[in-house]
Amino acid sequence: MGLLAIIGGSGFQTLPALAVSGQTRAVTSYGSPSAPLMEGHLSGLPVLFLARHGPGHRVPPHQINYRANLKALAEAGATQIIGLAAVGGIADDCGPGVLCVPDQLIDYTHGRPNSFYEGGPAGVVHVDFSWPYSPGLRQGLLAAASAAEVPLRDGGTYGVTQGPRLETAAEVRRLHRDGCDLVGMTAMPEAVLARELGIEYATLAFVVNWAAGLTAEVITMDEIQRQIEHCNAAVGRLLTSLAAQHAGATPAAGTSAKPD
Ligand code: HPA
Repeated sequence: MGLLAIIGGSGFQTLPALAVSGQTRAVTSYGSPSAPLMEGHLSGLPVLFLARHGPGHRVPPHQINYRANLKALAEAGATQIIGLAAVGGIADDCGPGVLCVPDQLIDYTHGRPNSFYEGGPAGVVHVDFSWPYSPGLRQGLLAAASAAEVPLRDGGTYGVTQGPRLETAAEVRRLHRDGCDLVGMTAMPEAVLARELGIEYATLAFVVNWAAGLTAEVITMDEIQRQIEHCNAAVGRLLTSLAAQHAGATPAAGTSAKPD
């Protein structure tokens, strides 16, 4: 059993249930991550936490240094990462308040450094990405949700858009035709960088608005914020349940979030 890390997105600059024991200002060969790495315990399990958008939610999705974030977590010993993601809902059963563990994604982002392999001495590497999310970690989240009685949609396709603006109604119609159930801005390149580093990765998405054009309403930040607050408790319960499961499966949980 390795070390679990959680990357918090919008609404999760901190993880209230995490008993924090320390923090590290990491510096990697790709620069600094968005925020200090928080070390602590969740249900007795050593866990790392990183705020994707930085302290005070200041780094927009297209300007996040995803490589520094992933590299810093890898260097701190993370072997599993759960990325929290506030998303828009596209599928009929993905309305505001729904939690989902997608099993597929489509990458519509551009101009984001999206690989650790850029030729040169590292060579040319094509990682398999047929199934972008770790089946084991997804199953762990589903089991934890069922133990905590938190409804969780199993599977779905996450369309990753560039942002920071929200989509047009026509773009959402295209995402729907493409088979996307959810739309968000951060699962890529996070998921593929984790894959390149050999880290298991899953997204825990929570829907904070119907995607653009699916209702007569315009999407407001106030409404998104209201839904984030609505989802917060369920996401926290689910993660606490997951950590409890992991802690139960860990023979001797140490006191440090760092691997021995
Ligand atoms: N689109 C893209 N990203 C999002 C949305 C959305 O509607 N809601 C929250 N993140």
